[in-house]
Amino acid sequence: MSDVAEWWRSAVVYQIYPRSFADSDGDGIGDVNGIRSKLPYLAALGIDAIWISPWYPSPLLDVGYDVADYRGINPDFGTLDDADAMIAEAHDLGLRVLIDLVPNHCSWDHPWFKAALAAGRGAPERDLFWFREGADGPQGSAPPNGWAGSFGGSAWERVDDGQWYLHLFDVSQPDWNWEHPAVLEEFDSILRFWFDRGIDGFRIDVADSMSKDSTLPEVDEPRVPGQPANKYPAHPHWDRDEVHDIHRRWRRIADEYSEQPGGARTFVAEAWVSPPARLARYLRPDELHCAFNFDALKAPWDARSQRRVIDNSTEAIWEVGASATWVLSNHDTIRHRTRYGRDQGEASAPAGTVDADLALGLRRARAAALLELALPGGAYIYQGDELGLPEVEDLPAEVLDDPIWEHSGRQIRGRDGCRVPMPWSGTEAPFGFGPGAAQPWLPQPTSWAEFTVAAQDGDPASHLSLYRAALQIRRQHPALGDGRLEWVDLAPDVLCFERRPGFRCVVNFGVDPIELPAHRRMLLASVPVEDGVLPSDGAAWLSM
Ligand code: GLC
Repeated sequence: MSDVAEWWRSAVVYQIYPRSFADSDGDGIGDVNGIRSKLPYLAALGIDAIWISPWYPSPLLDVGYDVADYRGINPDFGTLDDADAMIAEAHDLGLRVLIDLVPNHCSWDHPWFKAALAAGRGAPERDLFWFREGADGPQGSAPPNGWAGSFGGSAWERVDDGQWYLHLFDVSQPDWNWEHPAVLEEFDSILRFWFDRGIDGFRIDVADSMSKDSTLPEVDEPRVPGQPANKYPAHPHWDRDEVHDIHRRWRRIADEYSEQPGGARTFVAEAWVSPPARLARYLRPDELHCAFNFDALKAPWDARSQRRVIDNSTEAIWEVGASATWVLSNHDTIRHRTRYGRDQGEASAPAGTVDADLALGLRRARAAALLELALPGGAYIYQGDELGLPEVEDLPAEVLDDPIWEHSGRQIRGRDGCRVPMPWSGTEAPFGFGPGAAQPWLPQPTSWAEFTVAAQDGDPASHLSLYRAALQIRRQHPALGDGRLEWVDLAPDVLCFERRPGFRCVVNFGVDPIELPAHRRMLLASVPVEDGVLPSDGAAWLSM
């Protein structure tokens, strides 16, 4: 492992969605030993760290973002011993390990929530959550207020004795009461539990959500189902000022561990907040280290939008001394190959609602990879990005598992299409996902035979080869990773920036080919380049 003090400022981190990554025992569900078996593949890909989405005991009603025990491993995924072995093996290969911390809510299977239910109205156990009486007269038969759940419907659920509890997400995910000291102490202890096991950091789930206005005022701008929330300043439950005290508290714990062998520990925030200045508040020197740049993820594929979002977000982030963190896809979003293949006005529409040109999407995804990996800062790769996987938009309704499907009255298909298990090898499902013929928990399309790692391995024109080459160059080139960029204006539909020393990235968003600027050597291109001409939707890395 490189001994760089602030390693996250330049790191490339690979996101593993454990249920869908690799299955070691043939039950159709990915597991920790499956991850172990693929660590050499990941190390050879050229990444610096992995982030593992929740692997804790859970009824998996939101695929593990409903945590029943923060200090264990889901038996479907393996054991704590397997996790310890995985952490050690990853470290031996030079890979750092981040895991997911889910602090806003737990699962209704968590022992403290079960105790709160059993203890009844008015019991101190209920104070750990948001139990309230209902509105609408003495019967209290209406929810305490009109807050909406992020997956649709009300954010309140009524229990047998008539009280209601708050769940900003699924009904199975009761919100913790972060005003209660026992909750603060419990999460301190959870962080220490995993830091003591050698974890290098945490991705913080919905990092902007824990603090709520306990007077429960109505939300000014009610949520439109299927649309992102409007997290305006002083919103009653998103992005409130008080949430920063929690992050400062955690930062002190991480800093304590950073003094110990193993080096700097880090946090990356999942916070869908805007504008960039609001996001940058999470990155002040005594708070979290990184935050995903979702404005860039959402930006349409055109030069002007991309440049605007790069400038606006880096300006705000650099202002507080942090580094940018780029991401193209994750387990919650439409895979970017599909997004970039859609009409850009509807790129993020729910799965199965708009057509996509997947050949165009792949071409743009190749260019986007070179853009992402050349920008200043760290970068995240979602499992399967390196294979050019598209969103699976036609999963049969009976296999859909995302709570959004049911909450939306079966109107919105949800996020399963980006969670289809990885194709590793072979010509038919399960494509080496697990041993034998057992089918994975979500079916893989037959067309995925051409996307397997084995099919792309050794083919210099494959998506995987492009990623490997880009990551290798990124590791060696002194200009890449953290730092600054300088724009070079070439043409309206072209982005060109210089990274010092001696590196330029050129992306042609236009329909016409362009002539590349004079350069010493072409290091890599996402499309064939002849006579110095870069075709439409192509990107090139130049040595100057
Ligand atoms: C985050 C996760 C998402 C989950 C939600 C609730 O947004 O990325 O998958 O459903 O939090 O925990």
